[in-house]
Amino acid sequence: MSGTIPVVPAGATAQEILRQGAEAAQGIVKLACSFSVEDTVIIDMIHKEGLPIGIFALDTGRLNEETYEVADAITERYGIRIDWYFPKNDAVEKLEREKGLYSFRESLANRHECCGIRKVVPLGRALDGLAGWVTGLRREQSVTRTDLAAIEIDENHGGILKINPLLEWSEEQVWEYAKTHRVPVSRLYAQGYRSIGCAPCTRAVAPGEHARAGRWWWENPEHKECGLHRR
Ligand code: ADX
Ligand code: SF4
Repeated sequence: MSGTIPVVPAGATAQEILRQGAEAAQGIVKLACSFSVEDTVIIDMIHKEGLPIGIFALDTGRLNEETYEVADAITERYGIRIDWYFPKNDAVEKLEREKGLYSFRESLANRHECCGIRKVVPLGRALDGLAGWVTGLRREQSVTRTDLAAIEIDENHGGILKINPLLEWSEEQVWEYAKTHRVPVSRLYAQGYRSIGCAPCTRAVAPGEHARAGRWWWENPEHKECGLHRR
């Protein structure tokens, strides 16, 4: 199902990366959408460029209410369908019965277990049958994201294409686009959030703190990945 990696010219725009990736994949391509400002900016680009890229979202069962509100606003604004994926009910029921509702705070292993059940396994189902997926990853977000490519082969998911159109963008550039194009964004940003995941594992950050300091704030920076983007 996968295509070959096209050569992305230096200085290619995010829209060009999206178009090139969608063409090179030679099959179904979808954006993995967490309803972050990066992801809603990409939806705006997909819509304006008329690109054949669908949208899926992983509902972990622990998302903020504000995230569902943005999802609703996006559906309304762009007239698009979002393919939602949920975790397997038996796995969540077993986890919560045996370990309680906040087991992820107790150890890194427990945190990976919860992310595995609620995000990684559903991601596998979401990517099944796709030739490529688009993400809102940016290089400056994390020490774990410095060696990504704008379009790469995703060896963890059957060698399909992984397209990261905002890879070289700064946080300021993302907000500039969002404001210029009046893209719907989560109300949590106005409360000091700069990166948004599940409600119990995300909090607002203080001025001067790293943008992802509010994600799994009890862990070290090199652990701050949920497994969706394991390399
Ligand atoms: S995470 O690994 O720390 O959770 P992050 O929140 O930075 O990832 O998001 C990076 C990208 O992963 C998003 O731009 C989006 O493409 C994808 N992603 C993250 N969470 C989800 C989700 N719940 N549903 C769909 N895609 C997601
Ligand atoms: Fe579970 Fe937190 Fe991971 Fe969400 S971010 S899946 S609540 S550990």
